[in-house]
Amino acid sequence: MATQDRVLLPAERDLALRHYESVFGVGTWLFHTAHWGTSESGWAQTFATFDDGDLVSTVDVFVRPVRDEQGGQAIMGGIGSVATAERARRQGHSGRLLEMAIAWMHEVGCDFSFLFTGVHAHYRRYGWKDTPLRERNGRVAESGPAAGGVRLEPMHVPTLIDRMGELYAQDNATRPLTHARSARYLRSGTVALMLKPDRAVFTYPGAADLRTYVVAEFGDDRVSVLEAAGDTEGLAPLGATVREAARERGLSEVNLRLPLDPTYDPLIGALAVDVAEAPCAWMMAREIRWPWERVAALFANPAAHHWPLDDF
Ligand SMILES: CC(C)(COP(=O)(O)OP(=O)(O)OC[C@H]1O[C@@H](n2cnc3c(N)ncnc32)[C@H](O)[C@@H]1OP(=O)(O)O)[C@@H](O)C(=O)NCCC(=O)NCCS
Repeated sequence: MATQDRVLLPAERDLALRHYESVFGVGTWLFHTAHWGTSESGWAQTFATFDDGDLVSTVDVFVRPVRDEQGGQAIMGGIGSVATAERARRQGHSGRLLEMAIAWMHEVGCDFSFLFTGVHAHYRRYGWKDTPLRERNGRVAESGPAAGGVRLEPMHVPTLIDRMGELYAQDNATRPLTHARSARYLRSGTVALMLKPDRAVFTYPGAADLRTYVVAEFGDDRVSVLEAAGDTEGLAPLGATVREAARERGLSEVNLRLPLDPTYDPLIGALAVDVAEAPCAWMMAREIRWPWERVAALFANPAAHHWPLDDF
């Protein structure tokens, strides 16, 4: 059988989206947003293996500007959509595509690479190492400060995204590892990730005059806080609103995807009790242009953070 490894052509997008869907079993929205948020062409760099003309394996690279340890800019190569059709596994396809992705990240000047996985051994073979950041977990408080602010209607999220983008940019101007979101990313990636059906955006004091926002995800057994930005005055009332929304749904567990920064204490205090830190074991990184020591130090920095609205 003739096997060919190459960069995917724009005309082959639909083929790739069907491939992702068949391997991951989820809708194509994540792939659309990650690609559209990265490139004007609507398609980031995808490496693909064809076996007798059939697409059997893919690796995507999303090149993004992120903050370095000093608040300056670093270039991150995010690896995503790593998928081999079941019938074509254990033939080395994914491994070869990861090697192509590494060579390309060197070519385009990435400083380091970052990915999320449950199959760490696959990536360890090619030089990625465990670099867990930190999250916090707790229980939903029974009571606390008064709720305030409003829940945005989904149709208002795109209208208000530029304002939320400004608040995000102010809060994360020097926070290590955070994405310096472009207008393109905000309007495609951030909006799409805010509009997932199990998520809600809460703003304070109102919608059009928002000065603070919080994004929460209501799962089957827990509520997660995925993002918060803006005036600290709005954090306690919005934390309380998330607490009340979680209690209405009968949720008792809280997951906090917030930086370890006392700025967020009013939100956490209004929402949760028994809060404890836990490692995000699914995160791995690899050196590209930077030496490994610098990559490791960036992830070990207690201020470093990855916001889930930047997932890829
Ligand atoms: C993870 C995944 C992408 C691996 O794809 P793959 O093309 O099978 O990967 P490779 O062939 O490079 O490596 C897989 C295994 O085959 C082995 N292998 C590689 N070439 C081989 C060959 N010629 N003969 C026999 N085995 C081989 C590798 O050593 C590896 O073994 P191990 O997992 O037991 O250590 C694939 O299993 C998949 O799509 N899984 C579902 C989606 C997923 O989890 N994606 C990762 C998300 S982060």
